[in-house]
Amino acid sequence: MALWGGRFSETGRAELTEFSESISFDKRLYKHDIMGSKAHVTMLAAQGIIPAATADAIKAKLDEIKAMIDRGEMEFKAELEDIHMHIESTLIDALGNEGARLHSARSRNDQVALDIRLYLRDELDCLIAGIREFQRALVGLAAEHPEVIMPGFTHLQHAQVVLFAHHLLAYVEMLDRDAERLADCRKRVNVMPLGSGALAGSTLPINREMVCEQLNFSRVTRNSMDAVADRDFAIETASALAIFGMHVSRLSEDIILWSSQEFGFIELADAFCTGSSLMPQKKNPDVAELSRGKTARLYGSLTSLLTLCKGLPLTYNRDLQEDKIPLFDAIDTAHAILKVYPPMIATMSINPERMREMASDPALMATDVAEKLVEIGVPFRTAHHRVGSLVKYCRENNKALDEVTLEEMQITIPEATAEFLTLFDPGESVAKREITGGTGYKAVRSQLDYWINTLK
Ligand code: ARG
Repeated sequence: MALWGGRFSETGRAELTEFSESISFDKRLYKHDIMGSKAHVTMLAAQGIIPAATADAIKAKLDEIKAMIDRGEMEFKAELEDIHMHIESTLIDALGNEGARLHSARSRNDQVALDIRLYLRDELDCLIAGIREFQRALVGLAAEHPEVIMPGFTHLQHAQVVLFAHHLLAYVEMLDRDAERLADCRKRVNVMPLGSGALAGSTLPINREMVCEQLNFSRVTRNSMDAVADRDFAIETASALAIFGMHVSRLSEDIILWSSQEFGFIELADAFCTGSSLMPQKKNPDVAELSRGKTARLYGSLTSLLTLCKGLPLTYNRDLQEDKIPLFDAIDTAHAILKVYPPMIATMSINPERMREMASDPALMATDVAEKLVEIGVPFRTAHHRVGSLVKYCRENNKALDEVTLEEMQITIPEATAEFLTLFDPGESVAKREITGGTGYKAVRSQLDYWINTLK
């Protein structure tokens, strides 16, 4: 008979058992479920709701059950539905009536809300630490090549010269916001729901603050109906991870392009690539491609969770059991990416000569010429037009921008002086961008110093 079977005359049709079980995926909550039960039972005894000796016996048995699951010795069966029932029935099998006191003043509705919050708190800490490692790998690579120049792109067209380190540090900023979003989400996860009961709290004289303190939450939930009904904290987690995935997929795309024959900017270590079963010469950037692909799963999880909760009447509905599949998948996917990405970054080699060659196209310095004109008093729009005409002249006469004589330049830019002919050095172009946030050598050095310090 199921633990809830009192009012039923028939339970346990095999296909329904299969249909409604969650043990196959919620078993990973066992440590947190036991942690919550121990805090609960300690409080029940302190409040005189159950005898102290019973609480001690329950806690000792819960420790044994935890050790048993750690060792892989718990037999999980669909008839026991979920992790809460597995642990409670094992307890009752061992302790009889004493064990049957554990669930006083508690429902699986507040219990599962507690378990997910406890679990998520740990996972969020771990994910944030993983993102910090990721940032360190990028900062490390940037610091190894602080002066390497490359073309920067807009519309995937060569735009202006930038430092390779500047490009990498852009991703460090994005990852920083990802970590901050997870940390912010953790604040709302870190609220204690137990004591909300099924939906309306309890008639028993429980002490929720005591449970809260034992489990190190920042406060207790204020409304029992909200506490059992909402999963916005899971949605927030999935949302932050979807954004993280979006960033990773962009970095992946850069890495995939950079390692192509067309770019030739970088080479990934063999360990992070695979060959082709057909074409012997191939070396494919799989880690980057799969991370880009796995981002689709992160988006899927977010969409599933949003859809799951949409339009649910208050309070708990069994639909919510399905929250764990996308939530866990998002967490596992993010962990999987975080495990392989930093070592891939740390071991890639770069080809500074090739990057410099691509950055040496004088067309990348066209903006510098226009800004030089602004410096000597020409309105920017006029300057832009003049340099545009010079570009047109060069195209028509089959010359690079730095191949024209001063006289030729003056055809479209009457203000041009000899100095204008020296504006086409890519290193000089970078050196002139020393404003805060710019790609100048010193500006990037100070970004690097900031991150080296911050990520210590
Ligand atoms: N396995 C359930 C879940 O994950 C636990 C809560 C069940 N509550 C209920 N009233 N059947 O949501």
